[in-house]
Amino acid sequence: MRKIAIANRKGGVGKTTTAVNVSAGLALAGNKVLLIDTDTQGHCSRLLGVNPEKGLAELIDGTVTPSEALIEAREGLFLLAGSRLLAGISRLIVKTEIHKATKVLSNVLKPFDGKFDYVLLDTSPGFNELSVNVFFYADEILIPVSMEVLAIDGFKDFMREMNELSEYSNIEIRYITPTFVDGRVKKTEDVLEHLQKHFPDKLTPLIHYSTKLSESPAWGKTIYEFAGRERASKDYAKLTGAIT
Ligand SMILES: Nc1ncnc2c1ncn2[C@@H]1O[C@H](COP(=O)(O)OP(=O)(O)OP(=O)(O)O)[C@@H](O)[C@H]1O
Ligand SMILES: [Mg+2]
Repeated sequence: MRKIAIANRKGGVGKTTTAVNVSAGLALAGNKVLLIDTDTQGHCSRLLGVNPEKGLAELIDGTVTPSEALIEAREGLFLLAGSRLLAGISRLIVKTEIHKATKVLSNVLKPFDGKFDYVLLDTSPGFNELSVNVFFYADEILIPVSMEVLAIDGFKDFMREMNELSEYSNIEIRYITPTFVDGRVKKTEDVLEHLQKHFPDKLTPLIHYSTKLSESPAWGKTIYEFAGRERASKDYAKLTGAIT
């Protein structure tokens, strides 16, 4: 069972879009996938067009059992939804004894061990108690990096923080995925070149800028359902293939 966190300190770089569409692609390929939304915004539910009553917050605070907390959003794709209640969970983690505080998530997710082929975790922008817990649970990180010069600065800080963290957890930065790639924008090339030069072994197939990707959430559809023949679908299919 592979456990992959989709993370970047910076907001709006395509974390949720990537978490949802890679999960959907893995499920379409016949895998059993668990998508865990650790963000208070609850966007994974919206992108999948589902409205779960319970999710990760209720699982952590013990009001539901592991099986009650999940919904099957698509065939083979199970969602443990995020919600605003996760803000309270972060406060709860702060109050937990220090040696247990990084393992709260790992402990509640234990019943799912070995039950899925892939667990993908979508994370909030920024750094909080819950994201630290994600980094102690997951084994691999995929970092979406949008093609702006400022995004590269944030990305470097994030890489440094993750390297510091890897002294304490086993997590490894496996993948760096360029997002919002637009050939018409000149700086795109510079940013891509930088990534290619510094991280040739981590760089995945890229995701182009696509209006289809910005429209699909309003319809609650994955990119395969919304625009199966468009480049955006092919981009996500290639990315999914590269990480399997
Ligand atoms: N390749 C793309 N081309 C065009 N629009 C995109 C692309 N990827 C994502 N978007 C849109 O950009 C916005 C931000 O994407 P997304 O929500 O996936 O980012 P995020 O990193 O999860 O944001 P946050 O940090 O707020 O959680 C969304 O409206 C999404 O539909
Ligand atoms: Mg998001």
